Amino acid sequence: MEQNKLLEVSRLKKYFTLRNSFSGSRTVRAVDGVELCIYEGETFGLVGETACGKSTLGRTILRLHEPTQGQIFYRGKDITKADMRPYRSRMQIIFQDPGGSMDPHMRVGGLIEEVLKANGIGSGRAERRSIAEEYLQKVGLKPESADLYPYEFSGGEQQRISIARALAVRPEFLVCDEPTSSLDVSIQSQIINLLEEMQQGLGLTLLFISHNLPVVRHISDRIGVMYLGKIIELGTSDEICASPLHPYTRALMAAVPVPDPASARRARPGRIKGDIWNGSGPITGCRFHLRCPHASERCKNEEPPLMERSPGHTCACWLQ
Ligand SMILES: Nc1ncnc2c1ncn2[C@@H]1O[C@H](COP(=O)(O)OP(=O)(O)OP(=O)(O)O)[C@@H](O)[C@H]1O
Ligand SMILES: [Mg+2]
Repeated sequence: MEQNKLLEVSRLKKYFTLRNSFSGSRTVRAVDGVELCIYEGETFGLVGETACGKSTLGRTILRLHEPTQGQIFYRGKDITKADMRPYRSRMQIIFQDPGGSMDPHMRVGGLIEEVLKANGIGSGRAERRSIAEEYLQKVGLKPESADLYPYEFSGGEQQRISIARALAVRPEFLVCDEPTSSLDVSIQSQIINLLEEMQQGLGLTLLFISHNLPVVRHISDRIGVMYLGKIIELGTSDEICASPLHPYTRALMAAVPVPDPASARRARPGRIKGDIWNGSGPITGCRFHLRCPHASERCKNEEPPLMERSPGHTCACWLQ
């Protein structure tokens, strides 16, 4: 079956320049040449250790950060420099910290109505109110919740509110940036189930960013593994988890706790040791070579491109 590309990213870079009056300026290459395509209706999981650029990539795709270089296409249209107003309601994001993304002085209903108004949805206050209540109910909250303030809810309920607010504008594409990491484990699964239900019901496409590999595996159709600003392996969820190719992906998989510790020890191909690139100056060779137990001369000098190893499974490693 031919799948429609919803989003395509080509050689995307986002660099931040940090200025310090003592040490001068320094460039952080948060996203450093990402190639990516997300199909309509799928859940694409993005994993990688802290500071590898996952959130920056999610935000740059939505143009919440301006890209430094490269291109972003949405339904085939180049939106790299486009006026994003027509796209705002179609592309939404939910963040890790639900409370932090809500104005504490506004009631929940007002928070949702404000976003609806900003996106030109609903012909008046009454209609926007009824949409807000409808979406609060969809995420399992009472319509009367609209009259309360965010602080009157638990963390899990606040995340439901932020999901209701994002979905009420009927987006086609939703970036979920660590949507459950600030929540208790029992609430995490409720939120994941809710997102899955909403996705199926509303035909959403999700970019799901998380550290939590079991959760990403559960929810994603395909997974991209990010390392120091670049995607270094990409494939179906099953292939990435069952047959990881890149030494970094293998180490990530080996770090996931499994119910049987003895089999985990046998399966462990090696912990991630060695120095991490310090972020200043361009990287030469493979960006994982400093920590890779198998690195050769070629890995130190030549950067491997993403190469297809089996249909739909790509990996950037000279040794695979
Ligand atoms: N607005 C900013 N200004 C300067 N540097 C930034 C900014 N946002 C992110 N960075 C830097 O870019 C790099 C990537 O950060 P990012 O938040 O994208 O990582 P991440 O993979 O989402 O990490 P985490 O898993 O901890 O959320 C980090 O070194 C971070 O310090
Ligand atoms: Mg992040």
